[in-house]
Amino acid sequence: MRAWELRGGFGLDHLELVERPDPEPGPGEVLVRLEAASINYRDYLMVEGRYNPKQALPLIPCSDGAGQVAALGPGAERLAPGLRVGARVMPIFAQGWLGGEPRREAVRTTLGGPLDGTLAELLVARAESVVPAPEHLSAEEAATLPCAAVTAWNALAETGSVRPGDVVLALGTGGVSVFALQLALLLGARVVVTSSSDDKLARARELGAWEGVNYRSVPEWGRRVRELAGGEGVDQVIEVGGGETLPQSLQAVRAGGTISLIGVLAGRPAEVDVASILMRSIRVQGVLVGSKQHFEAMNRAIVQHRLSPVVDRVFPFAEARQAFEHLAAGRHFGKVVVRIGE
Ligand SMILES: NC(=O)c1ccc[n+]([C@@H]2O[C@H](COP(=O)([O-])OP(=O)(O)OC[C@H]3O[C@@H](n4cnc5c(N)ncnc54)[C@H](OP(=O)(O)O)[C@@H]3O)[C@@H](O)[C@H]2O)c1
Repeated sequence: MRAWELRGGFGLDHLELVERPDPEPGPGEVLVRLEAASINYRDYLMVEGRYNPKQALPLIPCSDGAGQVAALGPGAERLAPGLRVGARVMPIFAQGWLGGEPRREAVRTTLGGPLDGTLAELLVARAESVVPAPEHLSAEEAATLPCAAVTAWNALAETGSVRPGDVVLALGTGGVSVFALQLALLLGARVVVTSSSDDKLARARELGAWEGVNYRSVPEWGRRVRELAGGEGVDQVIEVGGGETLPQSLQAVRAGGTISLIGVLAGRPAEVDVASILMRSIRVQGVLVGSKQHFEAMNRAIVQHRLSPVVDRVFPFAEARQAFEHLAAGRHFGKVVVRIGE
């Protein structure tokens, strides 16, 4: 099979298109012929050696993909009844996290580091560690779901609890945030979006965003968002910025509201007014992607509402490196995808 490997060191220059022997499914495993992979910011950090500098190489990057079951190992059908050759599936992000709390061992089984990932023609997974792809989605669309969409769903609907009429704030217009916009709308919320680009804010409004604030031209965007939400603040914040944006998110959220800490796009350390959190009973929750159970619950909602992921651009397999560069440049809106195969 052909695969992209990070070998000999970190950095995009160390991504190489290589030939590897076709893997074979062992007992309880399935072989998936991948048709598309999508790129998360995490995958870029992984390639750059900034996510886990101790990651063993070579590594096939990327956690997210979609394809068809090409073969079943012995006993695979008993583990995942109904799974057939030809079934359209997506591997789950943390292969060992089927449900419950994110225990240490379970979340160490993530694709695209430490385990080999989806930027390859074939992948072997445990039979219970893949989920059916929604029928109305193409492989390119389904490949966007396992990390970014499940993270947004977990923040809004599992760890968090958005109710119809709530106001949700999504920071930026990358993969997680555009899913947060779409899924919050699906759950009946009104959504405020921030972005560095007025054009992207216009696109967010076309998708159904209620309001948009440019965080470059309005540095005190937290206060602006609070005013937009009637003076009290928003019910939920999808916080992908981290250290630099958290103080503004605290300005934007209402007393008793929730901030889901998801990403560190704008730095890790934060100077936070702890008193403001406790005096206003704000719930600050960390969110780590989600389990297979979360993924399946989200898929039911996606199928019911025929939600289509926003794919910014699809790159051919041979141009995977350019796909990473495109994401790193931050010009995308939604998800960046790589098509696998011809
Ligand atoms: N906790 C988890 O389980 C989990 C899961 C998935 C992702 N993450 C993390 O979540 C973050 C987003 O991931 P992603 O894959 O969605 O990334 P992405 O698609 O690359 O999104 C990048 C976008 O974020 C926005 N952004 C960048 N800096 C910002 C800032 N200072 N303030 C507000 N928005 C900013 C920009 O939007 P505009 O261009 O509109 O300005 C940029 O285009 C990353 O830190 C990632 O590691 C965590």
